[in-house]
Amino acid sequence: MSFQSGRWAVPTPTRALAAVSLIVLSLLALAQLQVGPNKSRYAARSENLEQADKPFLSKARATTAGDKYLIGVGKADITGPVVEINFAGYANLEQVGSGLRQRIYARSFIIGEVSTNNRFVYVVLDTQSGDTAVRNGILEGLASLGSGYAMYGRANVAVTGTHSHSGPGGWFNYLLPQLTSLGFDRQGYQAIVDGAVLSIKRAHESLQEGYLDFGTTRVSDANVNRSPSAYLANPESERAQYTDDVDKTLTLLRFKRASDGKNIGVLTWFAVHPTSMQGNNTHVTGDNKGLAAYLFEQSVKGDDRAADGFVAGFSQANVGDTSPNVLGAWCEDGSGQMCDFYTSTCSDGTAQSCYGRGPMFHKLDLGVSSCAVIAQRQFSGAKEIYDSLDSTSTAVVGPTVRSFHYFQDMQYYTFPLDNGTIVQTCPAALGHSFAAGTTDWPGLFDFTQGDSGAPDNPLWSVVGGFLRVPSPEQKNCQEPKPILLDVGEMSLPYAWSPNIVDVQSLRVGQFIVIVSPSEASTMAGRRWRNAVKAAAFDSGLAGDHEPFVILGGPANTYAHYVTTPEEYAVQRYEGASTLYGQWELPAYINLTLRALPFLAPTASGSPPPGPSPPDNRERSLSFITGVVQDNAPPGTSFGSVKTQPANSYSRGAIVTATFVGANPRNNLRLEGTFAAVEKLGSEGNTWTQVLSDADWRLVYSWKRANFLLGYSEVTISWETDQQLDAAGTYRLKYYGDAKPLIGNIRAFTGTTNSFTLS
Ligand SMILES: *[C@@H]1O[C@H](CO)[C@@H](O)[C@H](O)[C@H]1NC(C)=O
Ligand SMILES: *[C@@H]1O[C@H](CO)[C@@H](O)[C@H](O)[C@H]1NC(C)=O
Ligand SMILES: *[C@@H]1O[C@H](CO)[C@@H](O)[C@H](O)[C@H]1NC(C)=O
Ligand SMILES: *[C@@H]1O[C@H](CO)[C@@H](O)[C@H](O)[C@H]1NC(C)=O
Repeated sequence: MSFQSGRWAVPTPTRALAAVSLIVLSLLALAQLQVGPNKSRYAARSENLEQADKPFLSKARATTAGDKYLIGVGKADITGPVVEINFAGYANLEQVGSGLRQRIYARSFIIGEVSTNNRFVYVVLDTQSGDTAVRNGILEGLASLGSGYAMYGRANVAVTGTHSHSGPGGWFNYLLPQLTSLGFDRQGYQAIVDGAVLSIKRAHESLQEGYLDFGTTRVSDANVNRSPSAYLANPESERAQYTDDVDKTLTLLRFKRASDGKNIGVLTWFAVHPTSMQGNNTHVTGDNKGLAAYLFEQSVKGDDRAADGFVAGFSQANVGDTSPNVLGAWCEDGSGQMCDFYTSTCSDGTAQSCYGRGPMFHKLDLGVSSCAVIAQRQFSGAKEIYDSLDSTSTAVVGPTVRSFHYFQDMQYYTFPLDNGTIVQTCPAALGHSFAAGTTDWPGLFDFTQGDSGAPDNPLWSVVGGFLRVPSPEQKNCQEPKPILLDVGEMSLPYAWSPNIVDVQSLRVGQFIVIVSPSEASTMAGRRWRNAVKAAAFDSGLAGDHEPFVILGGPANTYAHYVTTPEEYAVQRYEGASTLYGQWELPAYINLTLRALPFLAPTASGSPPPGPSPPDNRERSLSFITGVVQDNAPPGTSFGSVKTQPANSYSRGAIVTATFVGANPRNNLRLEGTFAAVEKLGSEGNTWTQVLSDADWRLVYSWKRANFLLGYSEVTISWETDQQLDAAGTYRLKYYGDAKPLIGNIRAFTGTTNSFTLS
């Protein structure tokens, strides 16, 4: 098959355009003729167009065994610095880490053909997104593992993020998302890269023959649309095909090994922003997706259908306009009013006091309780599918495993819409509403508001001067977006945002995954999936089987949002953050369809790689300072207990202790822990660790007590639970590492007195 790079010169509204349109129109007419029969075959089954928004209407294939594949799963710790680093997601300068509630992970899933090297790797990171820097690091890490890993590379590794907003930032390739973290943080970057590579290595080492099947369920109460007024701009006839203004469907893909029929993992997709933890939370967590994964992995311990090392991935879908704040957006200004439907403003005319409410908003615990509920709802949906799969699932069938990946420069990509009109995309730009933030947290990037002076940010002081006025061509291209930050035309001191994106899709049997670099809005995701499904039908990609299409992301790079052109016209936050102009979605669809033949059973190879995006890892600025020194106040030593727990607690109480601490950035303790709960054995002389940093209910907090002298304090809190914790004798343990002004970092531990829980 042939692959045209399809990059045409920017058309001017002249005869050239007319000529091009004519050619394209006739090509389309020709194409129409050729695919005629398959189009009608597709139309006959178009009731299933909404597949991912409804429970899958499968012709019960439970008794039909699927094909055999090579399957493998792996998980590894990616927790970077948990203190003194800004969190990625809310772009809130004040949201700087002060501790850890739950370690964050990379979860990798490998699927391959049994007797070839055709494979793909789907990585789910508990991070804000996939990213070019992280992806480059992962690919280099895989290459360094030797020839046994040579089958993994650019084309078949998908690096997705759950879109969590409660983990350390500073690992991005581009300048804009580096701004609030004060630049690039190599320590956190390396933690993500090393953990991701380790998770892939573990998945590779676990490869064995097995089966895949999938099912869907409706999770009605875990997401709402946070920009419903923009959604309403989509045609009524299109909206009428769907019951909701967000996708309520959770899809689960199960990995079952052939040797003994045990399940080794599940990979799920559901669209909801992991913004349950709010913009003033400063404890690292995996937010609702990370917690759902934890709940699932805990739930199969001791279940004889599940293999040891079971991995549950909760991946993100068309997340763009979704929110976990299911009770709606309210004015926290004492008025008791909901925010304005169209503008999200409150009585003062701004959106500064407009906050979405999670299911447990009245518990002012930085979103912890709401997060637990939204996680539980996703987990329950996934568990329901898992428990019923043997009777209701659809087997993945067709031995083909394929993937494609190429880079596309989105600056003035010219292509025809469905009706033949030639349009183009633009260099990246963010509109005015980008600065307003969302109802999940208002007032992003406060330094862009007004002109009352620059923010208190040393990185901004250096780069602020590079802001540029958009060219007339860019202004025109981005219409009707009023440009706030012309990021795609700013490459000093290095690129601010991607102009070059990753175009990638994966396929196993009839199961197709679109890997999106942008957060697709609900309707954008539906259009993209439907277009791929229709094209897969037309080309007979899945043979006799109904193609099933999923969209995962944000992945590979962070290209902000993609809305429909109609939503773009409304220019709410998501439209203002649709970087490449109003035709970005049709362009993404064109770029995916163009390479779809590379997923065919007869296809080999990948499209030409396209232009390489800039690699800013070595040129990135950083104003992040390292740890200078740690000291213990006179009369104490590191790990000394400053405040002991009480002698006894009833289950449900919070147990706390405070220690003489040291900076946790000295040693990330990857695959280890800063905090632990130990239980005394019945014979009375052995202590066993029962909870660690992996557990949601054990919280590690670090506080600097004196900067000059290097004193700090660590508090460990255990939120005990009536059901989950057994009565008994316990103690808390703190694992730390101290850095002297001169000399080597030294590990230490602290241990509390024992106490009883009844
Ligand atoms: C995508 O756009 C290119 C022009 O850039 C065009 O040649 C091609 O036919 C389009 N493909 C699809 C599937 O629309
Ligand atoms: C965090 O933000 C929420 C939402 O406005 C607010 O209700 C809560 O009081 C804040 N918590 C703290 C500790 O500032
Ligand atoms: C094609 O569709 C676009 C987007 O809806 C519209 O702007 C354009 O006018 C249409 N062109 C024709 C020839 O109908
Ligand atoms: C139509 O589908 C069949 C298989 O279902 C395939 O063999 C054929 O090539 C397709 N035709 C076109 C024009 O894509």
